[in-house]
Amino acid sequence: MISIEYYNKSAEEFFEKNHNLNLTDTYNFAMEYIPELGEGGLSILDVGCGTGRDAVEFAKKNHNVIGFDGSYRMTEIAINQTKKYDNIKILNSTFEDFEPENVFDIIWAQCSLLHVKYDCLGEIFKKYGLWLRDDNSVFFISFKFGVMRHRVDGERKFTDLTADSLVSALKGTNLKLSGYKIVESNNQKFILGILKKEG
Ligand SMILES: C[S@@+](CC[C@H](N)C(=O)[O-])C[C@H]1O[C@@H](n2cnc3c(N)ncnc32)[C@H](O)[C@@H]1O
Repeated sequence: MISIEYYNKSAEEFFEKNHNLNLTDTYNFAMEYIPELGEGGLSILDVGCGTGRDAVEFAKKNHNVIGFDGSYRMTEIAINQTKKYDNIKILNSTFEDFEPENVFDIIWAQCSLLHVKYDCLGEIFKKYGLWLRDDNSVFFISFKFGVMRHRVDGERKFTDLTADSLVSALKGTNLKLSGYKIVESNNQKFILGILKKEG
């Protein structure tokens, strides 16, 4: 898997650039849909958790976090960064292979599923949608905003999304798009989305 190999090689550089990013706006957006994110006590699955930045943020708020990442090197860094938190467990697995033992209040996929081919996203959403606990549970996703469904950037492959292409990818799943926001960071637009179980 080309993108995972990139992260194995570039994990330290990724850590330097991204581990201390200020994501207050993203967390605030998610909290509009799930106010308990600020209070603690939720079970959260961090999909493609990278170096564990968001897992630590959630653990500090007393949530229980399981994070997984397909890159063994990113996973090693995440384990190291999170080892002092009893309420975080980090695993090495791919998006396709991961199978949880429990359901979650929040599934959190921050700029991670953007490495899944557009044609395979529906299957991932279908499978992960079954891991949401109930109708109040939230599946947060972020992707680069755009119309390119297959973009190669160096050694990584990206799927960019618009709200329309996201809604199309959700067809045939138990998920609906409950809200979204387009944000800009470093001259790059991102789409943040909140998926919930279809009522
Ligand atoms: C842009 S990084 C985002 C990491 C983290 N969520 C963050 O916001 O810092 C994408 C992550 O997805 C992981 N990834 C890419 N393809 C994957 C796959 N097929 N299965 C699991 N993880 C994958 C990479 O190893 C990398 O850690």
